[in-house]
Amino acid sequence: MDMDVSVQQAKAVEIKGVSKVFGGYQALKPVTFDIRENEFFTLLGPSGCGKTTLLRMIAGFEQPTTGAILLRGAEMKDLPPHKRRVNTVFQSYALFPHMTLEQNIAFGLENLGWAKDRRAARVADMLRLVHMEKFAGRKPQQLSGGQRQRIALARALAPEPEVLLLDEPLSALDLKLRQAMRDELRTLQRQTGITFVFVTHDQEEALDMSDRICVLGDGEIQQLGTPADIYEEPSNRFVADFIGETNFLEVDVLSVEGDEATVSTPLGMTLSAAQKRVSGGGRGWMSIRPEKISLPARPGEIAVDGTIEGANYLGGYTHYVVDTGAVKLRVSKRNNVSRSRMFETGQPITVSFAAESVRILGA
Ligand SMILES: Nc1ncnc2c1ncn2[C@@H]1O[C@H](COP(=O)(O)OP(=O)(O)O)[C@@H](O)[C@H]1O
Ligand SMILES: [Mg+2]
Repeated sequence: MDMDVSVQQAKAVEIKGVSKVFGGYQALKPVTFDIRENEFFTLLGPSGCGKTTLLRMIAGFEQPTTGAILLRGAEMKDLPPHKRRVNTVFQSYALFPHMTLEQNIAFGLENLGWAKDRRAARVADMLRLVHMEKFAGRKPQQLSGGQRQRIALARALAPEPEVLLLDEPLSALDLKLRQAMRDELRTLQRQTGITFVFVTHDQEEALDMSDRICVLGDGEIQQLGTPADIYEEPSNRFVADFIGETNFLEVDVLSVEGDEATVSTPLGMTLSAAQKRVSGGGRGWMSIRPEKISLPARPGEIAVDGTIEGANYLGGYTHYVVDTGAVKLRVSKRNNVSRSRMFETGQPITVSFAAESVRILGA
């Protein structure tokens, strides 16, 4: 067990003040963070925030404009991509169409000078790992999208990289398959013990799969933490907005004491709640997640009167919009009783929430 802990804490990748400028355009401001050995690490952010650029610098396809990248403690600056023990899986599988699956997986091993027997054994292992052993002799075009992505994974894992980079590898797959592949990827990471650096713009994917998530926005790190840290304790408005759904209410910050702020809300009441980056006398945002609002109101919580303005039945959940006069609140209610009663549009209702569920955030 002791060893597990030390392995978990060791650094697989160190990103130190790394930035990237393309012809005068700053794609990535200087960022600094570590990726741990053996972790499923996700870079999450909207399109254009610099995720691919960062991966390409780790792989060695791009040079950082400033800063240094270390792999297992060694500076990578002068090491070309093929000498780094890093492999990449892309969104488009980039398999060789004229080669069989076996040949596709063996290709990189041949280039590394692996002997024939060792190569064959490794290819067989990899096919088994991704449950494709029956298809060894097929060509890529005879496979479904999900099967091709499995082969692309097998090919990237075959040379035993220290780090596997995955650039939106599931985005070309349909929803059902994407969800199944999440579990497969997570299992693969645990089985192989290889550090995975996974890039996605899909917050649900990131929450589902990751040990830790680095949220990128506007070319910089917005927050780095576990999925629960990021969802429950967002460090700013950008993160609260990008990860999951939330209600934002603009508030006046009356006072701040340590981690707590007292604010005056547009719902007509004053409340104290956990704060990040606000100061007394200023403006801020109160964030409350739709599933943390009780419908109907629960005793002991902060109550707000309103009217049901709309209801969307989604099977497991119903999403309501409750008009409180000053603001509209989105409320998500789990349908935990079969054919549970829907609230009707126009119906007066009281909702409630606990101050513990509220976050007060700076812009
Ligand atoms: N080779 C390049 N030359 C110029 N601009 C680039 C180049 N590669 C990426 N960019 C720009 O850098 C920004 C970040 O791109 P990218 O890393 O691909 O974002 P993401 O993967 O998060 O969508 C984008 O604005 C993109 O247009
Ligand atoms: Mg990208």
